[in-house]
Amino acid sequence: MLDPIQSSINYLRDKMFSKPKIGIILGTGLGGLVEKLQVELEIPYQDIPNFPISTVSGHKGTWIFGKFNGVDVVVLNGRFHYYEGYTLNEVTMPIQIMKEIGIEKLILSNAAGGMNPAFKIGDIMIITDHINFFGTNPLIGANDDNLGPRFPDMSEAYSKELINIALTCAKKTDIHLQQGVYLGLSGPCFETPAEYRMFHYLGADAVGMSTVPETIMARHRNIKVFALSVITDLGITGKIEKVSLEEVLKEAEIAGPKMVKLIYEMMPLIS
Ligand code: HPA
Repeated sequence: MLDPIQSSINYLRDKMFSKPKIGIILGTGLGGLVEKLQVELEIPYQDIPNFPISTVSGHKGTWIFGKFNGVDVVVLNGRFHYYEGYTLNEVTMPIQIMKEIGIEKLILSNAAGGMNPAFKIGDIMIITDHINFFGTNPLIGANDDNLGPRFPDMSEAYSKELINIALTCAKKTDIHLQQGVYLGLSGPCFETPAEYRMFHYLGADAVGMSTVPETIMARHRNIKVFALSVITDLGITGKIEKVSLEEVLKEAEIAGPKMVKLIYEMMPLIS
């Protein structure tokens, strides 16, 4: 079952000299975390056998081992999106590999459009739950019962324990956090006003083009998940403006340091 990625796993296992239990996947514009990271080993994706290569601008494509606030971590600097043409198996390959090298907790970040009328551009939202609107699922196909269950429970997709730690850290550092449901879909179009309206009506507070497949794979492998969205634009009736990648990257860049600080503070408490 693991055969296609076994060479990637072997390659990383040969190179790595720390034993991180925490994995971090950096989303759009949040590469700033790397500046606070004590980098010990950085491996470009193209050096790893059978590993996909990221194509979207704003994503660099390296696998970094290092220490973040004194804690061993592995950081994926650049993720794979379904809209780039990768299969969901490829999109979630980093998670499958992380499990095999010992990761127990996963931190994800993304940029998202806010649909909750209380949200403002630049807000950070803790993802408390998600709606899978990809129309597919990374677990479709034969299941290897040694890796995880055929029908994984999703009653606590996002770890309450990690959310509570984040809330404590946010209070301590005076970071204002929103909480809400993230709806994930394929993209690459941003939403029409009618779609934003519908997704809000369905119970979503934010919408974006990632995270959900990774969370599903992580839960299948019994990895705890914590995820944050930066609200980079608004899909709220009356407040909808043209969205572009440039605008999304600009806003993510501005909100990035707050998010980095929060994750930094959480590190010793979750290791
Ligand atoms: N929709 C989908 N994905 C996004 C958005 C959005 O409004 N903003 C940032 N990523």
